[in-house]
Amino acid sequence: MDTIISASILSADLCNLERDIKRAEKAGCDYIHFDVMDGVFVNNISYGIPVLKSVSKVTDIVLDVHLMIVDPIKYIKQFAESGADIITFHYEAGSDCGEVIDLIHSYGKKAGVSVKPNTPVSVLYPYLDKIDMVLVMTVEPGFGGQGFITETLDKIAELKGELDKRNMTVPIQVDGGINDKTAPKVKENGASILVAGSYLFGAEDMKKAVDVLRDRF
Ligand code: DX5
Ligand code: ZN
Repeated sequence: MDTIISASILSADLCNLERDIKRAEKAGCDYIHFDVMDGVFVNNISYGIPVLKSVSKVTDIVLDVHLMIVDPIKYIKQFAESGADIITFHYEAGSDCGEVIDLIHSYGKKAGVSVKPNTPVSVLYPYLDKIDMVLVMTVEPGFGGQGFITETLDKIAELKGELDKRNMTVPIQVDGGINDKTAPKVKENGASILVAGSYLFGAEDMKKAVDVLRDRF
């Protein structure tokens, strides 16, 4: 399976967001990763619905929305109607996991569920047959540019093992600290969708950086 690259615009120049989205498209990124932070679920505030609406008007690329907010069920409708293609929420965020997945699907969108580094992946096993993607956080959510947490590799491998055992092909996404050094490791352990922010937007040649994430190892 070819690796999918999702560019996190948290590290883009937000005054030149359209330009940076086009840069990511030209560099060969498959998705734009849109991080929503509410200052409650995580200790940071990013951007939300109005920005997503504007972004969806200037690009046809897949919009991969990562909700780091409490009570995601309250906002699914608005994100779905603002251009999200994939909506990922956190298992730890306080809404009923099954209900949120069903709601996302009712708008014809793909549903992802994420776990923070200290949450075991096994909490998601009861939902695997209705999830379109699992996001294993490889840093504590909240900020770009943090160091990769090595212990999360075992979680990726454990989840991949469970999926293989069940003959399922749910893609595993990883997010946080992904670069030329960590990409081969996460892929080796079973991840197929790589989110990268600072590594891509900080690269002199973004296309080369995308190729490195995709092909190396
Ligand atoms: C962090 C966000 C990430 C972040 C990744 O909570 O979910 O998407 O932008 O940034 P890097 O790739 O710089 O670690
Ligand atoms: Zn993210």
